[in-house]
This record gives sequence, C-alpha cells and structure tokens, in this order.
Amino acid sequence: MPTLTIDGIEVTVPDKTNLIEAAKMVGAEIPHYCYHPGLSVAGNCRMCLVEIEKAPKLAIGCFTPCQEGMVVHTSTEKVLQARKDVLEFLLINHPLDCPVCDQAGECWLQIYYMKHGQYESRMMEDKIKKHKKATAIGPTVTLDQERCILCARCVRFCDEISKTSELGIFNRGNHAELDVFPGKELNNKYSGNVVDICPVGALTDRDFRFQCRVWYLDTQDSICPGCSRGCNIQVHYNLDRPHHAEGRRVLRLKPRFNPEVNKYWICDEGRYGYKFIDDESRILMPQVMRNGGMEFVSWDEALKASAEKIKASIPEELGVLASPQLTNEELYLIRKLFVEELGATQVEFRVPPKEEGYSDDYLVKADKNPNTKGAEEIGLAVGSAEEILKAAAEKKLSALVIFVHNLVNSGLDDSLVKAALEGVETLIFIGSNFSDTSEKANVILPSATYAEKSGTFANSEGRVQRIHEAVPPLGESLPEWQILNELARALGLDWDYQGTEHIFAELAKDVPAFANLTYEILGDQGQTLGYVPPAEEEALVEHGELEAVRAT
Ligand code: SF4
Ligand code: FES
Repeated sequence: MPTLTIDGIEVTVPDKTNLIEAAKMVGAEIPHYCYHPGLSVAGNCRMCLVEIEKAPKLAIGCFTPCQEGMVVHTSTEKVLQARKDVLEFLLINHPLDCPVCDQAGECWLQIYYMKHGQYESRMMEDKIKKHKKATAIGPTVTLDQERCILCARCVRFCDEISKTSELGIFNRGNHAELDVFPGKELNNKYSGNVVDICPVGALTDRDFRFQCRVWYLDTQDSICPGCSRGCNIQVHYNLDRPHHAEGRRVLRLKPRFNPEVNKYWICDEGRYGYKFIDDESRILMPQVMRNGGMEFVSWDEALKASAEKIKASIPEELGVLASPQLTNEELYLIRKLFVEELGATQVEFRVPPKEEGYSDDYLVKADKNPNTKGAEEIGLAVGSAEEILKAAAEKKLSALVIFVHNLVNSGLDDSLVKAALEGVETLIFIGSNFSDTSEKANVILPSATYAEKSGTFANSEGRVQRIHEAVPPLGESLPEWQILNELARALGLDWDYQGTEHIFAELAKDVPAFANLTYEILGDQGQTLGYVPPAEEEALVEHGELEAVRAT
C-alpha cells in the first residue's frame, strides 16, 4: 500500500495501482485514450503524460505504478504542453466532421480538445484518406477508419474479453488503420462493447446511429432483463423529441459498472433486446370479451370483470401462472393475493422454454429470465405449469390468470396448451405485449415493461438489484404491482400499496432470504440474499455461527 503525493495531496493506494487510478482518488483527472480499466495496458496514445519529481522526463500515467514517496504533478506547464502536442498529433489525419459524426457529444477527442487543445492549426497538408468510411464490419458495428486514433482498445477487447480476435491494426506509420482481419466480420456475442469503449466516432452502433443526438438523451439505472445474470445497465431514453426514431422513447442500453456482476460489459442479446418496450405490439388499453369480440374498456370495468371471474373460481378452479420476468415485489403480491388471501393451490411460475437458451462461461445465462431466483425464494412454485394446463384442458379450472408468458411459443406440449387455452372458461392475460396467448384471452390487462416501473430482481447468484422507472408506462398500462393492488381492492380486500419500497419492506419481513435488505442497503450495486448487517456479522463470526445463519 504505497503512499504518494499527487498535486500536493497525499494518498495511500492498493499495490499495483497506476497513476490514472490514483489521481481519480484525489479528484484529479489524467486524460487518457488507450487505457481502459477492464483491459490490459497498451500505453500507445501518450495522452496520460504526467510529471514525476526526480524522473528525467514525463511518464505515462497508465503504465506507471504508484510507488512509496512518489511526488506527481498532473497539470504543470510541461504536462499541459505535452497534452496539446499529443492532441495535435492525433488530429493530423482525423477528419473535422464533428457536425455529422454520431459520436459528437460523447467523443473524447472533442472533449479533451476543448480542454487542452491548441486551437491554432499548423497543418497545411492534406489529411491521409483511409478506405473504410461508414462501413458495416458486422451486424452491429460501423467502422469509420479515418476517425480512428489507433488506441487499440477495441482490438484488446476482442482479444481479451470476447476472445474472438476479429480486429487488428494494419500497415505502418501514417497508413496504420484499424480493420477486421481479411475474410472476417465483427460478429461475436459481445460486439457492441467495442462501440462503448471506442473513445472517438470510429466505431458506432448500427442500431443507434443517427437515431438521436446524445445530448437529448436522459439516463436511468436499471438491470438487464435478458437473462438471469442481471447485468447492470443504463437505459438511455428521450421523451421530448417524438419526431426522432419514429417515436421510440428508449433508444439504447449501455453497460453500467458492477464488479460483482458484469464489470464493464453486457452481451449483444441484452443490449439490443429493448425493442419490445416501444414496439407496435404493446397493449395499450384493458380489454374484455363481450358479445363474442374483445372491447376496449376502462380499468374499473376490466378489474371488475376479472374480480368477478376470480371470485367465482376460488380456490379449486383458479390457476395462476406468474412469471420470472416480474419483480420480487410483484411476485410477493401474487403470492399474497392468490395463495394467502384467496387460497389458490394451482400457482406456478416456471414455463419451460421452447429451446435451451444460449449461454457461455462469461456473462450469458441459459435462463432468459431476470428473476427466477426471486420467484423460487418467494415460494411461487406450488404446482407445475403442466398440471395447471391439464386441469384447464379438462375443464377443471374456470379461470386461469397468466402473467407475461406466451405459452404458445414455449416448451410445453402444443396440443396441451391449445386445449388448455381453449378449455378454460375465463383466461385473464396480464402482460405488456400481444402474443398468441393474449389472443386467446377473455380479459387483457396491459402491464408496464421493466423500463417503466421500479422494483428488484434477484440474479442467479442471489444478488438482489434495483430497477427504476425510466419512461412512464405506455398508454394506459400499469406496473403489475399496481394492477395487483387494484385487483385486490376489486376483490374487496383492503390493500393500499403506494409504492414498491413499501412492498419490499413487507417482503423483507416475510421471506427469510430477503431479511435485513432495504432499498438503501441494495444501493446501486445490489446486495445478496441472506445478507447479514456488518455489526451482526461480527458477533456471529465471534460465535462461529455466520455460516449457519447464511444457510438458513
Ligand atoms: Fe481505438 Fe476506436 Fe480506433 Fe478501435 S476504432 S483503435 S477503439 S479509436
Ligand atoms: Fe496512457 Fe494511452 S492512456 S498511453
């Protein structure tokens, strides 16, 4: 743990910390391009030069480990001049196309030049033209070679993280250029990350290009619902410019750093899996079957119709298929309403997928649900989806409530699904998008997507993490917890949940695995099930009881 002085401030840092990271700890910024904390150090851009007392020349901050007694200066005249020179050098062949570059607003060449540039150009010569201008190099990424500053972050990402090695830097000197290897395309399960780490507009996202200027975007922290890994993400959205991106509000997802879950990365499946949020298939209004056809109705009418049918079926003739796409708060209310209050015995959440989902040994999990672990802990696996459907097919159920699932496209037997959906007298579908299953429903209640509500998911390792509302629920849709609250009231129960924090507090008291957890403790990085507060932990360690408590 060396102690050193940076810009006059003394700081003690863990062994092997480099000067860029140490400077962050004292609130000093060392500009950099090629350095990325999730990749190996390349030391090629020279933007991070700093002055170290007693060293003969400037040193690069990314490759210089902190040492005991070091005295470092990050903004002396010499350092500032070096930054100017490096920027001048990087811009020799970089086109000045910021007004039409999709990276404008989040380009580090732009940002650092505004702070450290020399403004007066000394360049008379023509810029060297490179071949690939706005060229798709794979399904997700566009390359603009002349914007590239050859930092090699993207090359190292493909070598070290996706381990697919599609990219390289070819030729020498002024003619050096970033490209895919001959005969290859940038097509791996994590390809979108190279766009995030490219400091300039050389690699842009084909999905997001020209959809919206980045300064019109707002951001909200969330969790990717694409699989049970629960990668931390930011939802980027725009509510003020409906004329952009054909009115879509959510425009892209970006990874959010969490060392315990996804580090700096997300997979492409998760990154591009947001389209259903503003899709045309969204259900915008409640609907009820009348005179042989579905009619749009008010929430009051739809809830009343649902409550009547549910009341007439409890407890033996009611089946409920909850979903591991729902939050812990919602699953808890499903248990409370249907199992505890109404006495339903045929409640389940697991529906097998049609095909085993893709998985790897890095981030992606085969279970494509964000909250299977939470549903298990809350205790929603009472029966089995097959048994419930059999009962429906045999006309032993008079009402079946299905949350989110599209059974028609699942791993359940097709003929059983058909017989069940047609056999049950009342099918109540609660979900955000139309599907072959919602088509068969007599009552449809539109629900919000994960980007339109708050709550928590527990990932496959039992880390409970928060999601937050980024955009308001579309049309008249409502978060499932609110639908359940209103449904309980329509059933004559005295429920009055005003927000998810209230539900989570009750859940934490009721479900042992969630004990001691609060939204505050979850923070923005989550906390594991079976959490023991530090003070209690100390006492338990003293008595040798910690493992036993965690196991319970
Ligand atoms: Fe760096 Fe971007 Fe060029 Fe790759 S494309 S070397 S990330 S500037
Ligand atoms: Fe240090 Fe590039 S960040 S040389």
